[in-house]
Amino acid sequence: MTSRRSFISGAGTAIVAGAAFSASAPSVIRELTQAGSHRGAPDDEDFWLLAQQAFTMDRSVVNLNNGGVSPAPRIVQESMKRHLDEANSLPPPHVLWSLVPPRREAVRSRLAGAWGVDAEEVAITRNSSESLQICQFGIDLKPGDEVLTTNQDYPRMLNTFRQREAREGVKLITFSLPVPCESEDEIVEAYASRITPRTRMILCCHVINLTGQVLPVRRIAELGSARGIPVVIDGAHAFANLHFSLDELQCHYYGTSLHKWLFAPIGTGLLYVRRDRIEHTWPLMAADEKERADIRKFEQIGTHPAANFLAIAEALTFHEALGGARKEARLRALRARWIDHLQDVPGFRLNSPRAQVLSCGLGNFRIDGLEPAKLQSWLWEKHRILVTTITHDEFSGTRVTPSVYTTPAEIDRFCDLVRQAARHGLPE
Ligand SMILES: Cc1ncc(COP(=O)(O)O)c(C=O)c1O
Repeated sequence: MTSRRSFISGAGTAIVAGAAFSASAPSVIRELTQAGSHRGAPDDEDFWLLAQQAFTMDRSVVNLNNGGVSPAPRIVQESMKRHLDEANSLPPPHVLWSLVPPRREAVRSRLAGAWGVDAEEVAITRNSSESLQICQFGIDLKPGDEVLTTNQDYPRMLNTFRQREAREGVKLITFSLPVPCESEDEIVEAYASRITPRTRMILCCHVINLTGQVLPVRRIAELGSARGIPVVIDGAHAFANLHFSLDELQCHYYGTSLHKWLFAPIGTGLLYVRRDRIEHTWPLMAADEKERADIRKFEQIGTHPAANFLAIAEALTFHEALGGARKEARLRALRARWIDHLQDVPGFRLNSPRAQVLSCGLGNFRIDGLEPAKLQSWLWEKHRILVTTITHDEFSGTRVTPSVYTTPAEIDRFCDLVRQAARHGLPE
């Protein structure tokens, strides 16, 4: 791990070196792509400065809530605008129904290729909610059938099952996980011990949004496969944040947003459905019988703007130029930086795991005596630093989610303010 001092001096060098770089989008992509595999280490500030320049963020604000939804880099914004202009300068029916479909197919195959699965298993959706609800509503269940998940899963996904409970008499079984949990075996056992002969579906986060806890999803998928139970993975915070391929997870379904960690336009998502599951899963909006075994049936949402979906291509280009592994390592280094700075503050508690395989760039902490909601308001109202307050029945804390455009200096400023608040208290 890089020491704080060398990380900071790296940042200084970057500012000088950065003066030589052009901020224009294509040149940033070119520079990132040409940087070569020896570049882009977590403390290579010259490289990360290029990533920072690709965004149009107002640098008077420090955004440490990139987990909610992310800004898109300039090339993605420009691409969206181009596609919108096109849809309004040629006859829109021609654009939407002739020009767009082949381009959309190109996006599908690039997404599939980048995550190691077949294009015929990938649907482009509007967000994680839509992707996951397709699975949650689309799998047949009878009264008394059980669906299994944790009480730390995303509230909308829990509500989806609650609606099926109220409407169809299925049974939602939830359980608690320790915060944080440092043992893969403990997590797998927590699921395994609750599977009963009535269990018909398992919903499992790849990364829990509240804490950044990573779950061993492949092992949970194997649990389901061995018992013929479909496993739906909620990848909202894992996709393009952790570096993995969908293929290696061996899951039946994987739903994610692309507007979080892929930096695609707001309102984009992906649904992976294993080929043999497609025809047994109902779409949310009815599709033609001819499409029964076609992944595109999940995309039947009526007339909608194509610009968001087509601009995913530029987000992929940016992601590939950064490199998935380099991006994951940088996000982890930024998390390590704020934890290093804060962990000797009296009363500091990390609500996130420290083990490499169970953690990622998202983190959540608490300091005894500092109320997270008050800390959030003070940081935002007085200092224009945005963090997220997490309140769960069993714990609470402050979630910190830096991104690739976050600078070490911004992390340090945030930490200095938290230390100040811990020492002197927050103004009433
Ligand atoms: C774990 C998890 N699942 C699902 C969602 C829903 O994502 P979206 O609002 O993009 O549909 C979120 C949103 O933050 C999330 O954190």
